[in-house]
Amino acid sequence: MRLLSLTCQRFRNLSEVTLAPSPHTTVAVGENGQGKTNLLEALYFLATLKPLRAGRLSELVQFGAVSAKVTGRFLLSGAEREIAVEVVPGGRTALVDGKRAASLESYFGGVSVVAFTPDDLAVVKGGPDGRRAFLDRSVFNRFPAYLEESREYARALKSRNRLLKDNAPVSHLQAWDATLARVGARLWARRRQVVGEVAPRARDAFARIGRTEEGATFSYAPSHLPHVDFAASDEAQLQQALGLALDVRLRRDLERGFTSVGPHADDLELALGQHAARQYASQGQARALVLAWKVAEIENLEASNGFLPLLLLDDVSSELDPERNAFLMGYLAERGAQTFLTTTDAHLVQRAVGPDTVWYRVSGGQVSRREA
Ligand SMILES: Nc1ncnc2c1ncn2[C@@H]1O[C@H](COP(=O)(O)OP(=O)(O)O)[C@@H](O)[C@H]1O
Ligand SMILES: [Mg+2]
Repeated sequence: MRLLSLTCQRFRNLSEVTLAPSPHTTVAVGENGQGKTNLLEALYFLATLKPLRAGRLSELVQFGAVSAKVTGRFLLSGAEREIAVEVVPGGRTALVDGKRAASLESYFGGVSVVAFTPDDLAVVKGGPDGRRAFLDRSVFNRFPAYLEESREYARALKSRNRLLKDNAPVSHLQAWDATLARVGARLWARRRQVVGEVAPRARDAFARIGRTEEGATFSYAPSHLPHVDFAASDEAQLQQALGLALDVRLRRDLERGFTSVGPHADDLELALGQHAARQYASQGQARALVLAWKVAEIENLEASNGFLPLLLLDDVSSELDPERNAFLMGYLAERGAQTFLTTTDAHLVQRAVGPDTVWYRVSGGQVSRREA
């Protein structure tokens, strides 16, 4: 897979920008606040239909405009195709070769992207919601259908939670339980598979990066499922288990006004040796854990798709852990993936630069070619 061109229109502060990226490394250099992250975000959004930074889709639309559009031309298995996503009032439209995409599978068609951003650091030390979102980004990459599945789940959950808050009759609540159990079991099965594939690779990657005696473990922790062997159950058994757990916890959930069991309540547990990384990891170890997961994800996507994802690396800076930055730069250069880097200082990305590196300067939402 290769991105041949990228066009952003009215996307945040990028009024009208077209890039012709390198097959390998493309670097965007600029001062803070100029639009470097916006550029990566546009590419991330195109490739995932999810914003890179949390928030509403409408934030992506340039102040004063009504719609934003990102278009990319890709080379995929020898054929060129154009995908585009438009943010319009009330939602977004995905297009393939100019026509509304028939399905998300046809839209993605193998395009995937892994992003490294300074915000990743918060994943290890923060709450479970951040780790679920972190894991889910990997699951979307691996299974494009997960996007629709997780939406369906979120809609059912929202409806059930509203009824719980309103103290609605139990029969109304139970109308949602079947959907939650069915779709929740699907999400569980998807997440479990991705953790199963990525975790062993991540453990190995951590040993290469971590410079820590203790090994890292990454494991999925479903909450409030005491009577189920999560790892050994098939999807039908998980569905049954979730249906049961919803029943068992109904009275408690009614008191609290929200649903306490299901994929939305789980965690991705990260540990160093016997200790929870959340409490005990240093800054450097936390960064290495995230790095290890993503390196593992890249390798896993390559194994399942037959080609590497696009890699985005936002805000390469010197303050942040020079040693691990150097590891990452070296790793990216060696893999030969199509990579997009942003930095305020061109010197900091030298290790990832090759003869075909394409350089851009970003200033006030304008993007122009520059020399190395
Ligand atoms: N919807 C929007 N419309 C116009 N400008 C925006 C929008 N969202 C963010 N911006 C502007 O984008 C700039 C920040 O861009 P960003 O890519 O984060 O900078 P950096 O180069 O530091 O990564 C800020 O000036 C901000 O006001
Ligand atoms: Mg930035």
